[in-house]
Amino acid sequence: MRIVSVVGARPQFVKLAPVAAACRAAGVEHVIVHTGQHYDALLSDVFFSALHIPEPDVQLGIGSGSHGEQTGAMLAALEPVLRSQDPDWVLVYGDTNSTLAAALAAVKLHLPVAHLEAGLRSFNRRMPEEHNRVLTDHAADLLLAPTQVAASHLAREGLAERTVVVGDVMTDVVHQVAGAVSGADVLERLGVQAGGFSVATLHRAENTDDAGRLAAIVDGLTAVDHPVLLLAHPRLRAKADEHGVVLGSGGVRVLDPLGYPDLVALVSQARGVITDSGGLQKEAFELRVPCTTVRTETEWVETVELGWNVLVGPGEIAAAATRARPEDTDAAPYGDGHAAQRVVEVLAERAGRRG
Ligand code: UD1
Repeated sequence: MRIVSVVGARPQFVKLAPVAAACRAAGVEHVIVHTGQHYDALLSDVFFSALHIPEPDVQLGIGSGSHGEQTGAMLAALEPVLRSQDPDWVLVYGDTNSTLAAALAAVKLHLPVAHLEAGLRSFNRRMPEEHNRVLTDHAADLLLAPTQVAASHLAREGLAERTVVVGDVMTDVVHQVAGAVSGADVLERLGVQAGGFSVATLHRAENTDDAGRLAAIVDGLTAVDHPVLLLAHPRLRAKADEHGVVLGSGGVRVLDPLGYPDLVALVSQARGVITDSGGLQKEAFELRVPCTTVRTETEWVETVELGWNVLVGPGEIAAAATRARPEDTDAAPYGDGHAAQRVVEVLAERAGRRG
């Protein structure tokens, strides 16, 4: 069986890591195509090296652009690559423009497409990720859902027959990495005390593109009564410059994004996380660190239901970031840490053509 994985943005590299390892363990031929959506070393290369992901076999080098430009350029560049690879499965990950472009390029070539992390919904049709998810799920032949909630969304959209719940591959990685890193190192490097700081990230269009909203969120971070380490995505820096918003004032320290092992080590020692990232909400939950999500909805509803995540507006950040620690739980809504192995098994079972 030959699988072609198409990835392009930071969260997809994290998801790719356990899938690549599971392919290796199962002796499956695995070809990695990188669209180039994320090209900065801190958003791309460091993930491949730290998570021991093989170098991409194909680099499309598309880069940044408007949604249409970027997605269209990927679509055109992927077509000859997928045609020449002629895989049993094209595997697409998550909800970025790279995901949609790859799904679309593959179905147009009648190549079987599997969508990993299928069925997530925010029900907010203004989010680019929501279009990408819905369109990818409806184009794909096999929907690999992380949770029962995701599977129920797919069933409501008439896609139950194509759905298999496999668990969440990011949960595989976070536990593997957490077991291998020491928090002490990163705390010393950054000069912070365990439990005495929060980790913040902010990159979503709905939070960064409007000057007033971005300024209000930054005010919210500044009002937190303990140090906040803001790991700044390049998009955040670019938008803050454009809007004249100063990111680092009061207790807010602006840092570059961290590689995955450092991020996991830092979060595991933090008092809390303040974010609009999907992945980080779950990582915080898995590490049992309270999360404050600066959004009106979340796809990872289990984190909220279990009390470890709250959704807030900019004015509520400071209070939420100092709330009492929630009650401990041993709930495992995101699976048992072996999702990637199941992904490869399901793909092998269903690879009709080459077996
Ligand atoms: C993308 C995904 C988002 C995901 C996020 C993870 C879409 C629609 N969005 O958002 O779902 O959560 O990745 O980080 O696919 N830039 C750089 N260097 C890079 C990449 C980007 O400087 O290596 C800057 C550029 O100014 C670029 C901007 O960031 O225009 C946005 O990048 P883009 O890939 O379009 O979207 P993200 O905001 O990263």
